[in-house]
Amino acid sequence: MIKFLLNNELVTLDKKLAEVTVLQYLRDNKALKGSKEGCASGDCGACTVVLGEIAPDQQSIHYRSINSCITLLASLHGKQLISIEHLSQGGVLHPVQQSLVEHHGSQCGFCTPGIVMSMFALYHAKTTVDRTTINTALSGNLCRCTGYRPIIEATQESCGIPDGGREPDQFTSREPHTLATLKALQDDIAEQASVNNVFLPQSRTAVSALLAQYPDARFVAGSTDLALEYTQQLKSLPTLISTTRVKECRALTITDEHITVGAALPLNDITPVLTTHFPTLHELIDRFASVPVRNQATLGGNVANASPIGDMPPVLLALNASIVIDNGSDYRTVPASDFFTGYRQTVLTSKEWISAIEFPRLSTAMQLKAYKVSKRHEDDISAVCAVFKLELDGTTVKSLRTGFGGVAATPVSCAELEAQMTGKDWQNATLRTEGMQILSQAFTPIDDVRASAAYRKQLLANLWQRFWFETQSELLVSTRVAQHA
Ligand SMILES: Cc1cc2nc3c(=O)[nH]c(=O)nc-3n(C[C@H](O)[C@H](O)[C@H](O)COP(=O)(O)OP(=O)(O)OC[C@H]3O[C@@H](n4cnc5c(N)ncnc54)[C@H](O)[C@@H]3O)c2cc1C
Ligand code: FES
Ligand code: FES
Repeated sequence: MIKFLLNNELVTLDKKLAEVTVLQYLRDNKALKGSKEGCASGDCGACTVVLGEIAPDQQSIHYRSINSCITLLASLHGKQLISIEHLSQGGVLHPVQQSLVEHHGSQCGFCTPGIVMSMFALYHAKTTVDRTTINTALSGNLCRCTGYRPIIEATQESCGIPDGGREPDQFTSREPHTLATLKALQDDIAEQASVNNVFLPQSRTAVSALLAQYPDARFVAGSTDLALEYTQQLKSLPTLISTTRVKECRALTITDEHITVGAALPLNDITPVLTTHFPTLHELIDRFASVPVRNQATLGGNVANASPIGDMPPVLLALNASIVIDNGSDYRTVPASDFFTGYRQTVLTSKEWISAIEFPRLSTAMQLKAYKVSKRHEDDISAVCAVFKLELDGTTVKSLRTGFGGVAATPVSCAELEAQMTGKDWQNATLRTEGMQILSQAFTPIDDVRASAAYRKQLLANLWQRFWFETQSELLVSTRVAQHA
């Protein structure tokens, strides 16, 4: 049984339903047809809805946009689902809808419900809204006829620019009541919650018990990869065990040595921590899919998926991160360099799951750079991803670690490059050409729709060159600062 609020209505679902995704449930079960199906793969945003959840401070509701086409019905458990039908009240449009009308932000209207829901989530974001946050909030919504200028202007006006304030709406005035209802729901939520063979355990012992009962079960977290097997490949989903409520999979701990990130925390929730400790990852994370996808997608899912073009595995390799693996009674920790064993294969056994990812912290002598090259700037998978971590002793290379995506069957490092550079003077220009030479021959990438093999090889060499040039100029700046100190 799962329980959630459909806007203000308490819904209990306690059987195997024909509808698997939130979009199917809204359209086919509830006849709420406002949310559209464009791509059924998280790419277009026509199906965007908003989930209200109790915020970490327990005092407010956090509204996040998600792609309902790739969100499993079970993930609504304990949350508030808001779709486009719930925004206007008594025939009066919500301020974001009114603004879109006034700025002529809709033509055929197919994208409009999704765009309005992304605007609505931003309307309720407890952050300053500017042009950058608007572009980010709308990064998962495609419009093929209106053009983005009127949509952006409507968002600017309704979300507080230039006035800097947002009018309270019906959701704000109802927030204390909704919060109390969601808290009561949390207390009522059972360990064995499930719908459609998706189980939502809260403890690692409950996970092992489910694995014993359903040996063929698979894990699911944000479902942004897994749901595509259902919506794109038309496969039936097996019994699924969700990690999203397992306490250890949601923990975040920071010590002097490590940052340990629970496998089931959504990427958008861990971004502030990751970008505080690894500021140069900002662009890579901003370009990881879109806001609605990052609101669901997890680091554990990205790593377990073991895609050769996933963006976070190269980061883990370069940072020498470790994967914390649980079987319900014991943990084992495996370095990222040993985790990927073949194309989409890992060291995980059928009785194990990823509990967390452990990142060693950077020292001041270390520099980290991550580069993603994709056909589209936003919401696109990498053709090539390259991550370098350099540690210098003065100008001598103490260590170099690398991680690459899109160049082999698994995420990989280049041991030869790392060994060749160590002990050398980083300012020596031959390192630039030597590194380009090594990287252009290190791997045998494939030709596919994203890039040709030759282009990928050239990209690797060029990204190394860029890394060398960027770190040279930063080295000069830090040397000058040291001389003037
Ligand atoms: C539109 C779109 C754009 C995308 N863009 C990017 C991108 O730019 N970069 C990128 O890297 N990826 C991208 N992705 C892929 C996807 O979003 C990521 O791989 C994401 O991190 C997967 O996390 P998830 O929680 O949704 O995983 P899920 O879909 O829930 O699971 C993925 C796999 O991991 C397994 N799994 C999940 N959690 C665990 C666990 N704790 N232990 C063991 N196994 C587990 C599942 O069984 C499944 O096989 C995109 C996806 C979409 C739909
Ligand atoms: S239908 Fe395109 S993102 Fe969901
Ligand atoms: S209004 Fe037609 S796709 Fe946006």
